[in-house]
Amino acid sequence: MSGRRTALRIALLLAALALGLAALVWRLNHLDEAPASTEGTAPPTPALLERGAYLARVGNCAGCHTARGGPPYAGGRAIATPFGAVFAPNLTPDAATGLGGWSRADFWAALHNGRGRDGRLLSPAFPYPNYALLSRADADALFAYLQSLTPVAQPNLPSQLRFPYNTQLSLAVWRALYFRPAVFEPDARRGAEWNRGAYLSQGLAHCSACHATRNGLGAGGTADFSGGLLAGSGWLAPSLHDPAEAGVMDWSPAALRQWLAHGSNAALASAQGPMAEVILGSTRHLNEADLAAMAQYLQALPRRPVERPEPAEPQPLLRELGRRLYGEHCAACHGQQGEGVAGAYPPLAGSRVVTMASPGNLLLIIQRGGFAPATAGHPRPFGMPPFAGVLDDRQLAALASYLRNSWGHQAGDVRLLDVVQLKSRRID
Ligand code: HEC
Ligand code: HEC
Ligand code: HEC
Repeated sequence: MSGRRTALRIALLLAALALGLAALVWRLNHLDEAPASTEGTAPPTPALLERGAYLARVGNCAGCHTARGGPPYAGGRAIATPFGAVFAPNLTPDAATGLGGWSRADFWAALHNGRGRDGRLLSPAFPYPNYALLSRADADALFAYLQSLTPVAQPNLPSQLRFPYNTQLSLAVWRALYFRPAVFEPDARRGAEWNRGAYLSQGLAHCSACHATRNGLGAGGTADFSGGLLAGSGWLAPSLHDPAEAGVMDWSPAALRQWLAHGSNAALASAQGPMAEVILGSTRHLNEADLAAMAQYLQALPRRPVERPEPAEPQPLLRELGRRLYGEHCAACHGQQGEGVAGAYPPLAGSRVVTMASPGNLLLIIQRGGFAPATAGHPRPFGMPPFAGVLDDRQLAALASYLRNSWGHQAGDVRLLDVVQLKSRRID
């Protein structure tokens, strides 16, 4: 008798808890406050449209919302997440398939609260945790610009998220745990330029969408740049807090501005892979004032060294094989001592890609080769051939081990197992 009553009490308690949790999740998903739009009902001015076009470029909206070879902003590109792909939708003002019927308030709710027009919760594959920081005026300018595009009829594609990640319930729980529709709060102890740089880097340019460290559910902070792995591709967006990784505190301000505008600078570095796309789609469009603001913010980021794993046991035979492979395949361009050729081939001696804690990006670059982004300041970059079909996994480990321990480097050997594990993270 009393056993049954206890069971009943526990069941009631659990039901109350579940209800309470559901109410909390609902509440945390409805913290919307919408500052009034400053735009009247008059047609948008050319200045507003131009401002919107500028913001759309810096935010790289087209980078995701354009299918390869497809019409700009008409959607259809798959965005990889650890839980399956989400397709970026059509942002052109087509009435049936795009944002044709949208109001400024609908658009604000999408950017600021991550909600679709029908109230549907959106996947954070759309970096709205960053865009939430946008001001209402900037959101309105973006909307006016997108509404001025030629409508393209292109239906949206359903996501390929796996169960349970494809449910609204799991998004609601995720949001309750990790998302608040914050606005950007300027730091009164810092100057206007630093604050502008913070607004751009944390918000519109969404650097932390890649550079933040994410937990198992894919959540990371907007002001955290301590290094993140990109879903699917195997690229690491290294820490901007550590000058031995991707931190730029020790670059000259001019070199950093040049790198953000052109993807490479005289001696230091050239952007690779997804970062090259960011330079091409986003930062190269920054005007002088915003470029300086972003540079100032990045150089003032707090320094936090990345933890390095214990170095593996040195393997002299592997390094010797690497030395021979280097002479055979690489030295013609990068030089016997890794010194490179000014203006054509980057030095590998002292390169952070070579010495950073994880060898993942180094292996990717060797396998895929590549071109630095072609920009106005760097119109015809030299290319590097891919070595994926030329070198097997053991040779890759040997070459990477040699590079990481030559010319004064002490970055530790790369084992065959590391190469195999790093490859298994890629799905493309
Ligand atoms: C990293 C890729 C990425 C970037 C960059 C990006 N988006 Fe998106 N966006 C997405 C994805 C993916 C979705 C779909 C989310 C979903 O369906 O759950 C989306 C959804 C949207 C929606 C909701 C549309 C609808 O039909 O519900 C709007 C509005 C939007 N994005 C605007 C923008 C704007 C404006 C920018 C630039 C400031 C931008 N996006 C940049 C990936 C991106
Ligand atoms: C789409 C993902 C992505 C976004 C968004 C992104 N990055 Fe990166 N970033 C990467 C990857 C991957 C690398 C490593 C490849 C490389 O070194 O170029 C990288 C490298 C870097 C480096 C190191 C450069 C070097 O050669 O040492 C800097 C600095 C950097 N990013 C700054 C930024 C800033 C500033 C932003 C925002 C404006 C940003 N990133 C946005 C993915 C991203
Ligand atoms: C035909 C000339 C050529 C050959 C051969 C070549 N590279 Fe490159 N390498 C380049 C060029 C050009 C770049 C810059 C391309 C870019 O920025 O995407 C580059 C970039 C790199 C980088 C990135 C450096 C940095 O700091 O950004 C690494 C690492 C690298 N190469 C390693 C190798 C290795 C290892 C080999 C031999 C297996 C090799 N390369 C063979 C031309 C070459």
